[in-house]
Amino acid sequence: MLSRKVADKLYAFETPFYLYDLDLLRQTLQSAVSVADRYGYCLHYAIKANYDPRLLQIIREYGLGIDCASGNEVRCAIEAGFDPKKIVYAGVGKRDKELRYAIEQGIFAINCESIEELLLVDSFAAEAGKVVDVALRINPDIDPKTNACIDTGQADSKFGISYEEVQEKVELIKGLKNVAIKGMHLHIGSQIRELHVFEYLCNKVNAIVDYLVGLGFKLDFVDVGGGLGINYDFPENEPVPNFASVFSIINSYLNVGDREVHFEFGRAIVAQCGELITRVLFNKTTATGRKLVIVDSSMTELIRPALYGSYHNIENITSKSANRQRYTIVGTACESTDVFDENITLPETKRGDLLTIKSAGAYGMSMASRYNLHDLPAAVYSDEL
Ligand SMILES: Cc1ncc(COP(=O)(O)O)c(C=O)c1O
Repeated sequence: MLSRKVADKLYAFETPFYLYDLDLLRQTLQSAVSVADRYGYCLHYAIKANYDPRLLQIIREYGLGIDCASGNEVRCAIEAGFDPKKIVYAGVGKRDKELRYAIEQGIFAINCESIEELLLVDSFAAEAGKVVDVALRINPDIDPKTNACIDTGQADSKFGISYEEVQEKVELIKGLKNVAIKGMHLHIGSQIRELHVFEYLCNKVNAIVDYLVGLGFKLDFVDVGGGLGINYDFPENEPVPNFASVFSIINSYLNVGDREVHFEFGRAIVAQCGELITRVLFNKTTATGRKLVIVDSSMTELIRPALYGSYHNIENITSKSANRQRYTIVGTACESTDVFDENITLPETKRGDLLTIKSAGAYGMSMASRYNLHDLPAAVYSDEL
């Protein structure tokens, strides 16, 4: 963990800030790309995980494409130099101007999540005089065995189109003149740590591809989404996620002929290279005896614990005390859910100490807000230290 090695230098920076370990990012990308290349898989980075320009520049150097969830994400990716032909765009609620923009840019595929959306893309494409490549995002009805807040693949979820609806509307879909159904897409959820879930996912993809081909669609690619989880409990034990195991499972169980296979990883690429560095403002004890450490960041910098009940490992990187105590770490926001962790053991922690909230590179800065009119946190990179 970078912050531990450079703790003394970190005092100089105004807190809170995100600290990025660029070498770890490169190591992670090298691992992902080298194993993907072995199987000929195409990797996209789910840009929603983190839009930091320096991270994007490095991700681009490794040849990844981008997975987007909004028109502004498509714009951000293009402005960061990614080839539109390597950009996919999913999302249940794409606005008209976002669809028109994606069509104009000629991206690799718009992943349509409803029949109404597909019809709209067809009509916008006709207006633009184009035939647009799309993928059907299918709801596969799989339990990804993860936190329910980030589970996107079960039958009742808002994501994707049901098999039933595709079958019901098949003639309508096939009659569309300005969309070319080039692929099928699914994304079943995030922070998947039980790798056998990827085996179920392959079985579903095989069945969905057979089903769609049986309905008369000729598919060139399958996009199986992202979702690979990381080790939030002990990040030092697994700084680089196990891409080799996931790709080996996919290679063993996926049976889609010579179709291209695409992935859209977000968390697995950037989570471990980022930490949120925050300074202790105050200590106090509640009437019930809870020892609170109040830090200078909050859910406005890192919302995952408040939003999903997510765990991040926290360490005091500057205290030299041998005396360890139990603390609850709370933020500055005017919300009772603004708690980073409860009842954790740290060395004696005082005003001015620096804490690191680890594994915060994904869905940290990208979900930051200006609630309470807090300033957005800055970024500090390993090569500045
Ligand atoms: C469609 C889609 N693809 C990819 C991802 C990235 O997921 P992860 O960060 O778990 O890899 C997401 C995350 O929400 C998503 O919605």
